[in-house]
Amino acid sequence: MPGCGHAIDSIQNRKIIQAGNPGKLKFSLVIALSMLYLPLISQSGWSVVANSVWKITVGKKQPITLLSAANSAPKYDALESLERVPFPLDSTKIHFEVIDGKTYLRFPLQRAEEIYGFGLNFQTQNQRGRILNLHVDHYGGQDNGRTHAPVPFYLSTEGYGVLIDAAQYLTVYAGTAVRVEADDPPQLMDRNTNPAWQAQPYSDAVEVLVPADGVEVYVFGGPSMLRVVQRYNLYCGGGYLPPKWGLGFTQRVPTLYNAEAILQEADEFAAHDFPLDFIGLEPGWQSMAYPCTFEWDDSRYPDPQGLLSQLSVKGIRTNLWLNPYVSPIASLYDSIRPYSGSHTVWNGLVADFTLAQPREMFRQHFMKNLLNIGVSGFKIDEVDGFDSWLWPDVARFPSGTPAEVMRQTYGLTLQRMTAEWFHEKNQRTYGLVRGSNAGASALPYVLYNDYYSHKDFITALINSSFIGVLWTPEVRASDSAEEWLRRMQSVCFSPMAMLNAWSSGTKPWSFPEVEEEVRAVARLRMQLLPYLYTAFARYQKEGIPPFRAMQLEDGYDALSKLDATLAIRYQYMMGESLLVAPMFAGDSTRQVALPPGKWFDFYTGAYVGDGEWITVKPGLEHIPLFVKDGAIIPMTAPRNQAPLPGEKLSLVVRKYGQQEGRYMLYDDDGVSFDYEKGAFSWSELTAKFENGAWKPELKIGNTAAFNYSQNITWIFMGQ
Ligand code: GAL
Repeated sequence: MPGCGHAIDSIQNRKIIQAGNPGKLKFSLVIALSMLYLPLISQSGWSVVANSVWKITVGKKQPITLLSAANSAPKYDALESLERVPFPLDSTKIHFEVIDGKTYLRFPLQRAEEIYGFGLNFQTQNQRGRILNLHVDHYGGQDNGRTHAPVPFYLSTEGYGVLIDAAQYLTVYAGTAVRVEADDPPQLMDRNTNPAWQAQPYSDAVEVLVPADGVEVYVFGGPSMLRVVQRYNLYCGGGYLPPKWGLGFTQRVPTLYNAEAILQEADEFAAHDFPLDFIGLEPGWQSMAYPCTFEWDDSRYPDPQGLLSQLSVKGIRTNLWLNPYVSPIASLYDSIRPYSGSHTVWNGLVADFTLAQPREMFRQHFMKNLLNIGVSGFKIDEVDGFDSWLWPDVARFPSGTPAEVMRQTYGLTLQRMTAEWFHEKNQRTYGLVRGSNAGASALPYVLYNDYYSHKDFITALINSSFIGVLWTPEVRASDSAEEWLRRMQSVCFSPMAMLNAWSSGTKPWSFPEVEEEVRAVARLRMQLLPYLYTAFARYQKEGIPPFRAMQLEDGYDALSKLDATLAIRYQYMMGESLLVAPMFAGDSTRQVALPPGKWFDFYTGAYVGDGEWITVKPGLEHIPLFVKDGAIIPMTAPRNQAPLPGEKLSLVVRKYGQQEGRYMLYDDDGVSFDYEKGAFSWSELTAKFENGAWKPELKIGNTAAFNYSQNITWIFMGQ
């Protein structure tokens, strides 16, 4: 090994970790202890930074990391409420070295171990055996690490996770490389005579090259994969709880629409009796786009405030598209110029938002001209790629932040800045972003892109649950009514039910032959609002992703024995107990892998299977949905908009199967951050079987924050 490097000895880690793992002590004591250990441990081992979360700083601490860019604030109390587990890896097999300004990391792998995560992948799930160059970019059709959220976090079927909190472009060898000194080397084979010979032999490690002279690494304990994800999300601040309207339907209108066309669009939605909670305006709202002015075009929008209030009277919020590159004709241009990078994007300035001054200039402009007149959210475009569009890696920024670090964190920074403005107004927002990274779970944004494979969109939605981000399989256009309906069904079972008609001008009813079915699924989403909102509340408070890969479910082991690899790329869980199995155009049947336990058809209540493969033939009108035995699904009557604060909704509660059930229903005002001060409720719904009959019950947690009528309609399905 070259003499200029220094190795960090991890032999003593086990001892130190146990010493720093204080049983049932309160979290403040854990923090105190970890602070006490930090100076001692950081030279030679791991420190405990929260319950069952460990950290090591290898080499030099970097000024900007992903978690620092996202400004993540760990939810220590929620972490503390989870079980305590020992350090989950053999620390003697973890290796770090800093050589010539680069950091080399190595983590052990077991024979049967699978690993998930390592960015937002569209075509693959298990990343073992893959080489990835983690780099924020527009997805280019290959799972090679260049993607919208190249989060350097992976979780393992062995029940642990690792985050490499580095804002550099990382090269990951996820179980591909074999060292001479391998702990568990591959079997030697002669290709001449042995047909089992493999070009890529077995590898016993994940290795990562960090192009910096130091890095912070975190290990998250399990024991289950879901726990690992929970701990990761909670360490990043928990999930984001959208406003209720954010979970309604949204239509993005053609780019050159004007105020009149938007009002007409809103009226058309009402005339078609179709759900609509917010409208998205695309680049044409601005006086110039690519680069942007962040100012209204006064020929198309002579009275923006008037438009926003007319929409608001109709119960519709407004979301504005932007990319962050400042046009020479923008009023912000002169003031931003001294704080911007050496290179332009489409002739626009790239502000150095690591500095407080340009952040404040943007804040003032956006508050005064947009938020304070009623804008409810943003779509932050073009913070991902492509290389030939964005600033090059040779660009210089006034703060001295390398262009590479800027690229890896720009989307995070914009998310954080805008989120803080809305928080300052005590107003929840929910928007779109095309570039993100680690630490984003608490930020109010959903990822999207221009790639348009329906199937790969579903895999991205599933994979997003491994890395603390949200994804929408947005609908734009379709070749047939069947494809239109299938895509609409999927998007209504995703974090954002969105039609992005910016270039196509499509409407939900563009294919009249399936208009009724499209309306039905959009309204089903609205009916499921109490359930969906609760799923997001659990994301926020417990770190449980509202849309989840099957790998995160109990019984995944049994599923993998069914060789379900293909099916589970296209099926996922929504909330506690709903399994969603989207259909794709051209298919009239599909396979669904059911985890162990009894499952029921959502629509009919019919029993469908238990720990097995089933083949379903759902017809065009339905997206296949299955419900766990004993599940309670709180719904409301069909409606077109989320409730206003204080409005009381009816509750229609479905109980499936033979097992008794219990469900905790979350509620609050649906729009503000008052829940941070205790203005929320958890109410208990139970269904017990007593003396030959079902006995349903509701126990309201906090009446002041419970916006449902107490006359519940219970429906028992699958008896
Ligand atoms: C793209 C974006 C589209 C649409 C378009 C408007 O970059 O992905 O969704 O917003 O810009 O020009």
